[in-house]
Amino acid sequence: MKILLFGRGGQVGWELQRSLSLLGEVVALDFDARQNPQGLCGDFTDLEGLARTVEAVQPDVIVNAAAHTAVDKAESEPELSHTINARAPAILAQAATKTGAWLVHYSTDYVFDGSGSAPWKESDATGPLSVYGQTKLEGEQAVANTPRHLILRTSWVYAARGGNFAKTMLRLAAERESLTVINDQFGAPTSAELLADVTAHAIRSLQTQPDLAGLYHCIAAGETSWYGYAQFVLEQAAALGLPLKATAAQVAPTPTSSYPTPARRPLNSRLDTTKLQNAFGLRLPHWQEGVKRMLIEISGN
Ligand SMILES: NC(=O)c1ccc[n+]([C@@H]2O[C@H](COP(=O)([O-])OP(=O)(O)OC[C@H]3O[C@@H](n4cnc5c(N)ncnc54)[C@H](OP(=O)(O)O)[C@@H]3O)[C@@H](O)[C@H]2O)c1
Repeated sequence: MKILLFGRGGQVGWELQRSLSLLGEVVALDFDARQNPQGLCGDFTDLEGLARTVEAVQPDVIVNAAAHTAVDKAESEPELSHTINARAPAILAQAATKTGAWLVHYSTDYVFDGSGSAPWKESDATGPLSVYGQTKLEGEQAVANTPRHLILRTSWVYAARGGNFAKTMLRLAAERESLTVINDQFGAPTSAELLADVTAHAIRSLQTQPDLAGLYHCIAAGETSWYGYAQFVLEQAAALGLPLKATAAQVAPTPTSSYPTPARRPLNSRLDTTKLQNAFGLRLPHWQEGVKRMLIEISGN
């Protein structure tokens, strides 16, 4: 099997290089052409280059882990966000249809308006609150135009590599006596490792069960708020012996309304993963398991 991976330098892209390598040859492309095999384009602002690249590689599977993920920045650069999150995936969908390749794509709970408290199902009505959410919704709709597609909507992604919320909490807790963290947005921190492993498993299943093509929600089990997540990180960090000025007890809760940002974020990021677990025969682990592993890894213990 030949797999063409876009966005190899991102959190999920990095882990996909590991998990996909078990399935076959992986051609992993970077945004920066100088890092790629000659003539191949991984820049999502170069739409012609993307189409040419799929044509040249003739992959069995295209995996798109590239995205414009800067949620607040997207509000002031909607055109760029639209090109990367919506127009480029549409080009990949056209190229996949032309070559007969599978197209795997990632989306987000930000396609929903965050109302209520029930976990969102794949069939629920969307209603993005931000440019990022809107452009990601247009991207997944474009990807769904090619019959052989797999779209995984996820949330609150973290990885040991790169910056993330847990690392920010550790840094702030080492510098300050107390922290204030939002306690009215709910979701499940989901590791890039988990997404990459689910992706590889699903691609394998799709080879023999093409009827499983479609849209799925994929997040770790359980739920928390950013406040609960921060407390858990600091409890674990203290147990690992990391130097902290602020402990879990010194984290104060605050509502989203007290922390204005350019982009509006959904309060309810819970996603129902029943469809994915049943279709692919998977059990998604609790979010705390992956966060513990990441903390052990980054603490060097
Ligand atoms: N992160 C989250 O919390 C989250 C939540 C829900 C869904 N998702 C979705 O999950 C997927 C993977 O996200 P992630 O967390 O791995 O994001 P990430 O770490 O930000 O990775 C995205 C990658 O896309 C690259 N990129 C940016 N502009 C590009 C361009 N013009 N052409 C090609 N590549 C470009 C980025 O490069 P640079 O780093 O150099 O900019 C980065 O390597 C995305 O579809 C995202 O929307 C993420």
